[in-house]
This record gives sequence, structure tokens and C-alpha cells, in this order.
Amino acid sequence: MARLVVISNRVTLPSDRSGSTGGLAVGLRDALRRHSGVWFGWSGKVADATSTSARIEKAGRVSYATIDLGRVDLAQYYNGYANSTLWPLLHYRLGLIEFTSETYDGYKRVNAAMARALVPLLKPDDLVWVHDYHLIPLGAELRGFGVANRIGFFLHTPFPAMEVLEALPRYEGLLSAMSAYDQVGFQTENDLRAFRDCILHLCNGDTSDGEALTAFGRTFRAGVFPIGIDAAEFAETAAAAVALPDASRLKASLVGRSLIIGVDRLDYSKGLPNRFAAFDQLLARRDDQRGRVTFMQIAPRSRSDVPQYRELRRRLEQVAGRINGRFADPDWTPLRYLNKGFPRRTLAAFYRIARVGLVTPLRDGMNLVAKEYVAAQDPADPGILVLSRFAGAARELDAALLVNPFDIDEIADALARALAMPIAERRERWAAMMEAVQSNSIGNWRDRFLDALQAQARVADLAPTL
Ligand code: UDP
Ligand code: G6P
Repeated sequence: MARLVVISNRVTLPSDRSGSTGGLAVGLRDALRRHSGVWFGWSGKVADATSTSARIEKAGRVSYATIDLGRVDLAQYYNGYANSTLWPLLHYRLGLIEFTSETYDGYKRVNAAMARALVPLLKPDDLVWVHDYHLIPLGAELRGFGVANRIGFFLHTPFPAMEVLEALPRYEGLLSAMSAYDQVGFQTENDLRAFRDCILHLCNGDTSDGEALTAFGRTFRAGVFPIGIDAAEFAETAAAAVALPDASRLKASLVGRSLIIGVDRLDYSKGLPNRFAAFDQLLARRDDQRGRVTFMQIAPRSRSDVPQYRELRRRLEQVAGRINGRFADPDWTPLRYLNKGFPRRTLAAFYRIARVGLVTPLRDGMNLVAKEYVAAQDPADPGILVLSRFAGAARELDAALLVNPFDIDEIADALARALAMPIAERRERWAAMMEAVQSNSIGNWRDRFLDALQAQARVADLAPTL
């Protein structure tokens, strides 16, 4: 079997005990667990200058190769172009996009530096798999260094509609960079369709069957590979973890009240202000729920150097304070708002205790929390998932209570319905969702993508074009 070389900005090092928050790190850690290979990316450390060669750490069958980022590179590449330009663009937030030539150049410079540090580690038969929006130009950079391996790219976020992408200055550069890969993967059909439209209509591209695309003088494939989780394993973890002290303390603190849980990075794509507003409305309109339900929102801080993220934090603190000020009783705090992360194992137990999982992103590539909430439930007495129809997960979890995350009334109504749902309906909905989650494990995701990539011809095997 060819060696797998995975490249992503965020890498979870084996020495990192803090527990990674973010679907990419969680997914790749699990995908690599049963596969030997190399995981290359940013160490998470900041230095005066970006490293020119990688530091290698080995654990089991995986070598972790990481580089530090220089201060200016981090500001321009990570906080700048990746998270102030691409992230809002990919999540349909045109009003939040900031574009400057400096950050765009920084983005390209860091991608070139990553390619330079990676090349000496590559062997001719390696399958190279690049992940997410931080590293779109990496494939083309590797080709520039003469790398002839099969190179794939997977986008963990949504891919925006053509009219949205067009708002990005120099968007052609991104599309041409994506065309340098042999296989490109998206979370949903929607994302693939949007990308194909861009290739066909913005780049004069062509397609034979909807997945083989020709543009910028290259033919490559694009397909749909929804990311999943190991449902059986997560279910086992949840069942065992409810006995742990953190879970017992949470359960005892509820004194019989129903728990609604939300777990999201503190990110404006997650729709937290609307979610808080919907909970506020539930309490305002339904006297019968007051004192009987607790909403716990876990929201670890994310990308705090980006102003929009700091602003969101300030806003949520105010709203949370207002809700508790309005409704709390001496023995009941309606909203528990926690700005810290928890190990996934602890979350598994919290999900199992919660009667409702509330997942309402305004846009999300997939949303693993939705799948984890389903997998963690007790089959005899499962909770119910309230899910945004704009999360990739909604494609598979259509037995959830699907809501429009912009419609606060609809979310509040769905919460009331979930809290009152009879056990027979909960079981029926849960069984349908669990089947969907089980049928698409993280291993399936990895294998489907790698099989597709492996089926492509290596650049070196291609007949020279005239
Ligand atoms: N997560 C975690 N601890 C936390 C919060 C989140 O381990 O305190 C994990 C969570 O279990 C999930 C991932 O981070 O596996 C979040 O992935 P998701 O796809 O939901 O959202 P993303 O952060 O990638 O946008
Ligand atoms: C999303 C992105 C990932 C990213 C994660 C956490 O899942 O798709 O690429 O790693 O958020 O964000 P961070 O900026 O901390 O890596």
C-alpha cells in the first residue's frame, strides 16, 4: 500500500494533550489512526521567521512533520487571507470579507514555504492529500518543485455559489490552483455543483460526466466525499463516559431538568447569536419551560486575533448576561455559557445526558458535532437533534428537526417540539439518523477518497502533450 502523506494547516501532535477542537483535526487524527503515514503542517508555534525545514516527531505508524510560522506570515496567511478573506467567503459572508494584496501575497508565500519544506520528505509512490482552504495553492507549488505524485485536495468547508466566489478579487487564482490537483473532494453535492459551475462558466472549462473536469489545460476529477465519524466507537465512549465525574456532576447539577446542548468553536459561522435569541424566545413565550430546561453552550475560543471573532465574543457575553438576568431564579441559571474546550470523551457523555442537541450554523461544510450527538445517544431513551438545514450534515440527517438558522421563531418552535417529543418518535428519528451516521465512518471517507485518488494517472505516467 502506498504511504499516505496528509497535509493540513492544523495538526494534532501526539504530545498535545489539550484536545483539539475543529472537525479537520478530529477527522484526520482518526483517519490516520489505522493507516501509516506522515502528517505535515503548522506546529501551532510562532517564531521570528517561518521554518525552512520540518521538525519530525514519530508516534506509532505516523510521523508528524511540522514547521513554525513567522509572526508576519501568521498574521498575513492565517489571520489574514485564510481567516479574514477565504473563511467568510466560503461561508457566504460577503460583508465580512477583507482583501489586501499583502495578505494574499502572504498566503501564497506560506504555501510556497510549506511546499519547500515538504518536498524532501516525499517518496515517489506517496499518495499526497492536501486539506482545506489554507492550502489551496499547495498542489501547484509542489508541481512547481517537480513533484509527480498523485495529489488530492479535500475542502472541509462549503464551496460557495459562483456569484459569491466572483466577489473575491483574483478568484481565478484559486480555481486554477484547484485544477492542479488530480482529485478534488467536497462534503456535499451542493459544493461540487457550485465548483463545477465555476469551472464551466468562469473558466471556460468543460466536463464529460460532471466529475471529470477540464480547465487551465488540465483534466482532473472532482467528487463528493462526506466526512464521517466512527459511530460505534463514539457510542461506546459515550456510554462509558457518563459514569465519569464530569458527567455525574453535570447530571446532578440539572436536578431533573432537561438539558439542551450546543458545542461549537466560537465562530460567526455557527449562528450562536440566533441560537441564544431562540432560547430567549422559548423562555419568553413558554411559561411551562421556565425553570424546567437548561441550555449549555460550550464555545471554545477560536482565532481570537481576528477582530470579527473578538467582536462575536463580546456580543455573546452581553446576550448571555441579558438572558440570565431576565429569567434566572435563585436555583436556576437558564443559560450556561462556557468559553472553554473539553476532551471529546467528556463531550460524548454530555451529549448523552442532553435531551436536545442544538446545532444551528448559518453555513457549515459538514458539522461533526451533529453526528457525534446522534452517536452518543442512549438507544432506549434517545435525545433529539435540532439541525440547521445549511449544515452539510443535514443531507444525511434528514430525520433531525431541520430548521432555518436565520428563523428564530422556527428554532424556538423546534426546541419546544423536541422537549415535548414522545419517546416513540424520538426512537424512530434516532434510528434513522444513527443508520446514516453508521453507514459513513471516518475510515470509509478516507478509503473512498484515496481509492479515487489512486485511480488517477500519475503525472509522470501521462503521455507528453504536444
Ligand atoms: N470539539 C472538542 N472539544 C470541544 C469542542 C469541540 O473536541 O470543546 C470537537 C468536536 O467534538 C468535533 C469538532 O471539535 O469533533 C468540531 O467539528 P465540527 O465539524 O462540528 O466543527 P468545526 O469546528 O470543524 O467547524
Ligand atoms: C474548521 C476548518 C479547519 C480548522 C478548524 C479549527 O474545521 O475547516 O481547517 O482547523 O475549523 O480552526 P483553527 O483555525 O483553530 O485551525
